[in-house]
Amino acid sequence: MRIVLFGPPGVGKGTQAELLADRYHLIKFSMGDMLRQEVAVNSSVGRRAEPFLKAGHLVPDNIIFDMVNNFLIEYQNQDILFDGFPRNLNQARTLEQSLAQLSQKIDIALELYLPDQEIIKRLENRRYCPSCGRIYNCLTDPPKIKGVCDECGKKLIKREDDQESVIRRRLEVYEQETRPLTEYYKELNVYKKIDASVTKEQIFKKISEIINGYTDKK
Ligand code: AP5
Ligand code: MG
Repeated sequence: MRIVLFGPPGVGKGTQAELLADRYHLIKFSMGDMLRQEVAVNSSVGRRAEPFLKAGHLVPDNIIFDMVNNFLIEYQNQDILFDGFPRNLNQARTLEQSLAQLSQKIDIALELYLPDQEIIKRLENRRYCPSCGRIYNCLTDPPKIKGVCDECGKKLIKREDDQESVIRRRLEVYEQETRPLTEYYKELNVYKKIDASVTKEQIFKKISEIINGYTDKK
């Protein structure tokens, strides 16, 4: 099974990806996390990607494709959840072609949606663990001890791109570059739209119903 999870910044993709990967034993492909990891270790990919991440622009496709192709080959026999990839039509078409070469396809494309005001509120209150990647919301889903990860005890941090000006840029980029994926996946008959304004447990339940419905039909 190949699932794409897309939606604007801060809508809750990473939160759901964590829950879904665990429940359905999916290999999680989180492009943003992988890019931030490359920046953290100061690799050549990280050095090229960093200015785009900081500014809230998409990293150029050629950098992205190298990372995707290696991943698809490494995990070709496993179920995959794509979080934050593809992010434009070129990436979506290239992914489709790469999967077709492995006799695979996207089975479900889920778009999460939420009003911009709520997105900004969620992102300003987001903290994450740079060690294990767990995501928190200071208001609705705080750690047990303020500023410390429940899982691994590391100090939680705020992402560099979670400042209002960069968030607004990311929202614009989403509208221009990523929004066309809605029509693209509708045409492939794999598209589902999910209201992300409810709790993470309610969103997870809704997505689980979709995945269970799909696997029951097979
Ligand atoms: P990426 O890391 O993917 O960022 P994003 O798409 O902007 O999304 P976020 O990770 O900010 O939000 P999310 O939807 O995962 O929300 P989360 O679960 O954390 O990409 C970053 C950058 O990398 C891009 O700007 C670009 O530069 C580059 N990049 C990545 N992929 C690329 C690609 N394919 N091509 C080119 N460039 C690429 O939740 C947010 C907050 O809300 C948290 O605090 C969470 O606790 C809280 N929350 C979650 N669910 C709920 C809920 N139901 N109720 C209340 N709070 C909730
Ligand atoms: Mg994320």
